[in-house]
Amino acid sequence: MRTYPNLTVVGHPLIRHKLAVLRDAQTPTKQFKELVDEIAMLITYEITRDLPLEAVEIETPLERTTAHTLAGKKLTLVPILRAGLGMVDGVARLIPSARVGHIGLFRDHETLQPVDYYFKIPSEPEARDFIVLDPMLATGGSASAAVASLKRSGATRVQLVCLVAAPEGVERMLADHPDVRVWTAALDRELNAQGYILPGLGDAGDRLFGTR
Ligand code: PRP
Ligand code: URA
Repeated sequence: MRTYPNLTVVGHPLIRHKLAVLRDAQTPTKQFKELVDEIAMLITYEITRDLPLEAVEIETPLERTTAHTLAGKKLTLVPILRAGLGMVDGVARLIPSARVGHIGLFRDHETLQPVDYYFKIPSEPEARDFIVLDPMLATGGSASAAVASLKRSGATRVQLVCLVAAPEGVERMLADHPDVRVWTAALDRELNAQGYILPGLGDAGDRLFGTR
């Protein structure tokens, strides 16, 4: 597998198993949705491994002790509409205090260029850690535009979490936003002429929302 300085592939066996079912064209919408949610949650376990902790004093039922809770800035999840929405609940289950912003983008089928239609994030973006969510990193145009919008609004710390990435998208992110770490469950082979990831899983938004 090719390696990139900005990319971490989270290849836990549970994730690989679930991804295999997710890719299967026979997997129905209900199960597809559940799997996106579950894989997003499992990736979250990995991406939060290095979150800073702070010591706090607490009283257990038996005695006073020092325990550790998450420190630092509040995490903010930013799904790219539509398909990123499918990942929010899975991530938020592990980080219930996370705020959620939204970025609306779709890829023009002819030009493959992202068209933006919505942007709403919490106040004080400069003080937040952003996690952008989108199952598919294909040409990278959508993710790059989303990160650029966040940075224009003042964000300085951004990560991207996807489920399936193409080399073209990873390279685009490395060129446009080398400071943004990209996490994925799989790095696939290539894009086809229509900009779909091969082997991929098809159109994530359509499969999630049953609009095929
Ligand atoms: C899909 C996907 C990404 C984008 C990836 O969204 O969810 O946002 O394509 O392609 P790119 O890396 O080449 O930009 P789509 O444009 O199909 O919109 P949708 O989620 O509303 O269906
Ligand atoms: N968007 C998708 O949903 N799937 C792909 O393979 C590429 C872009």
